[in-house]
Amino acid sequence: MRKPRRPAASARARLPPTPALAPSILSADFARLADEIRAVERGGAALLHLDVMDGHFVPNLTIGPPVVEAIDRVTGLPLDVHLMIEDPDRYIDRFARAGADMISVHQEAVPHLHRTVACIKECGAAAGVALNPSTPLSVLQEILPDLDFVLLMSVDPGFGGQRFIPAVLPKVVALRRAIEKGGHAARIEVDGGVGPGNIEALLQAGAEIFVAGSAVFGGGDPRRRVQGLTAVLERARRAR
Ligand code: DX5
Ligand code: ZN
Repeated sequence: MRKPRRPAASARARLPPTPALAPSILSADFARLADEIRAVERGGAALLHLDVMDGHFVPNLTIGPPVVEAIDRVTGLPLDVHLMIEDPDRYIDRFARAGADMISVHQEAVPHLHRTVACIKECGAAAGVALNPSTPLSVLQEILPDLDFVLLMSVDPGFGGQRFIPAVLPKVVALRRAIEKGGHAARIEVDGGVGPGNIEALLQAGAEIFVAGSAVFGGGDPRRRVQGLTAVLERARRAR
């Protein structure tokens, strides 16, 4: 299934309905990527999280625009491209043209965030800013009204399969409060160490998009893993 091509009128149109599970393909079997994607699609994943690493901002290398484009050809799911790279401005347009529906850049890697966020939106994607666990929320104060989403890292970026950093839970609560107080539209995405043991607490704290790599692809059937995690989200949402 192919999704309609941009440019579309509004970037927000490509954010998934929330709460949403976003399997990260970082822990998938890259030799069978299309099958892995099909499995999470069947399980009810709302979008796909694609981790782009450059070996500079983080000590790991992953995929670039040609792989994003190839993934776009085999799925109708929105593509959430998390840029863990230095100087992301150079590549935003290429990732957008490759099929990215959401693009996040790291505050720690970008000196002129307003320009970068505007550039993501001009390219027709939803714009997000990612914060490392040790980066305070205060750096978002002036940019928050402009954001479609905020990606709170709950591990130091670079690798899948790391342990969730508990200090991020109150950070989610504080961000939710700031968004509501300011009447902003930004969604909260959490990424790193998310799984059955903490997804419900993160939802209650105010997170809306849940990235899960090893919890989905780290063993067993990814379709069932997605079904299990989305069922938790659905149950918690109904109980609200
Ligand atoms: C880490 C990446 C994450 C990673 C999450 O730098 O940004 O998206 O795939 O993997 P898990 O869920 O295994 O922590
Ligand atoms: Zn990520």
